[in-house]
Amino acid sequence: MCGIVGYVGSLDARTIVLDGLKKLEYRGYDSSGIALRCNNDFKIFKDKGRIAHLCEITDYSFKTNMGIAHTRWATHGMVNYENSHPHISNNKRFILVHNGIIENYRKLKIDYLSDYSFYSETDSEVIVNLIEFYSKKMSAEQAIRKAMSMLEGSYALLILDKENMDTIYCVKNKTPLNIGVSNDGITIASDIIAFPSNVNKFLSLDDQRFAIIKNNNVKIFDLMGFEVEANYKELKLDEYSISKGNYEHYMLKEIEEQPDVIRRIITKYFDNENVLIDKNLIEAIKNSDKINFVACGTSLYASFMGKYFFEKLCGIPTECFIASELVYSNPLMTKKPIFIFVSQSGETLDCITVMKKYKDLGYKIVSITNSVESTMAYFSDFILDICANTEVSVASTKSYTASIAVMSILAKAVSNQKTNLKNNLNRVSLVIENIIQDLKPLIKDMASKIKDSNAIFYIGRGIDYWACDEGALKLKEISYINTESYSSGELKHGTIALIEKGTPVIAIVTQEGTNSIVRSNLEEAISRGAKGYVISLESLAYSKDDIIIPNVAHYLTPLVSVVVCQMLAYYVALYKNNDIDRPKNLAKSVTVE
Ligand code: F6R
Repeated sequence: MCGIVGYVGSLDARTIVLDGLKKLEYRGYDSSGIALRCNNDFKIFKDKGRIAHLCEITDYSFKTNMGIAHTRWATHGMVNYENSHPHISNNKRFILVHNGIIENYRKLKIDYLSDYSFYSETDSEVIVNLIEFYSKKMSAEQAIRKAMSMLEGSYALLILDKENMDTIYCVKNKTPLNIGVSNDGITIASDIIAFPSNVNKFLSLDDQRFAIIKNNNVKIFDLMGFEVEANYKELKLDEYSISKGNYEHYMLKEIEEQPDVIRRIITKYFDNENVLIDKNLIEAIKNSDKINFVACGTSLYASFMGKYFFEKLCGIPTECFIASELVYSNPLMTKKPIFIFVSQSGETLDCITVMKKYKDLGYKIVSITNSVESTMAYFSDFILDICANTEVSVASTKSYTASIAVMSILAKAVSNQKTNLKNNLNRVSLVIENIIQDLKPLIKDMASKIKDSNAIFYIGRGIDYWACDEGALKLKEISYINTESYSSGELKHGTIALIEKGTPVIAIVTQEGTNSIVRSNLEEAISRGAKGYVISLESLAYSKDDIIIPNVAHYLTPLVSVVVCQMLAYYVALYKNNDIDRPKNLAKSVTVE
């Protein structure tokens, strides 16, 4: 799980690839590196640490019109200089950056490269030497294709060859790689957001494709060496989404964008009171006997609300699966299930693996995603755009609320029930605005009280419990405080033993049926020393509650309670001076198993 970017053209390649790399930092940021053409040679700069550090160690004194670069999220080997990319072959002819994982790299090393020296622990260094190994008997192109045919796993590669100084070779399998064209040259990147703003068309390489970029020209080949058509698409990037604007952090900007995202969703999916969703999708869901949601992390927690909507509104049995669990397990299937994948990035490898598995079995596949050009969108029969625009902060915020809003609309369309959903979603957007404007001081105050805790618990029941799951994940990721979400009734079955004097226990209460029982469970924790906090809905609030959220429809409350949790996590992390947009050990898009 890394980001790669390359450029060849008439402009300064260093600026273009470093700028691109900064936008790819969400994919990993343990170490970074760059290889730049300098006359008839390539110069390499790399180190552990962030891209800001790479910018400092890069030499700006020479002209360069060609380069490749990499930002790493370590998978094979420690975070250190040696394991940083680019990697170079033993005879120094080939230079390579790699995103992905080669599963058979140890075997390749033993079988073909026993005479080679290795300076890193990476699988990537095996690839570059395998190419060198074959290049002794064939052309660079043939050697790259030969090496590709032997690799098992996922790879997006950019390769430079000192004997073909004007060429960038690109290779792709199971991990994204896009080629963008502008008047001044050609940029290649793991994600189109890394393209310079003047790129006006791009193509996403298909799996097992090999591209040669030379003389401002792109040629694409299959593994056999036959040229295939290059299908370009127009590029439309939302510049505002990928800039931080006046905000100190993307995360806060993205939290505060949520009212607009909800309004965009309403505009896209409603024509007056009618829902605008593909009739074939609605029929496919109606004809299914079970809905299987598949997702990871925040998207998984959003899926629990999908389950709620489809069971309550449509009466269709629904289950939520952790994608990585479905890769290896084979749960019993009903006769006509449909699979709904929820993914902000559309590139989460665990989801893609499961998607391919069930697509091959002939099941219908739906994606609810923020990336309609992604790999998951490509494999889907139906795609629903969550309209959140680019989410840069590693901790997901707007994609959670956007996914839930889209699921509620889809469920309404399938149920055909006359609900007031459009107005209720409009109300949600207003209430989120109110939380952002009016409740901020209270949330900050609560953050200051819990910021030094060693452990925090969120408790709730039913849909509040699912919001707790997401609230706890946010706190964990960016504050690094061990935060757990518990169904409040389950706390007393063991976990209450962890409550110590002053342990914050935060109850979310937005449901009439469970209001008093969750409050009783909180009292049980308080009696054992916990410091209790309550986030409640106005209609159920007690005057002493810490955060009181204006009312919204009872089935949409996670869309507002979670915003309080997002802001709480944000301010705790801010007080702790943590790197909010780039929390330690994480990456935005998890493209490894
Ligand atoms: C948490 C977070 C992750 C992602 C998860 C799935 O803030 O961002 O838990 O939600 O990695 O990612 P997508 O939705 O891109 O499949």
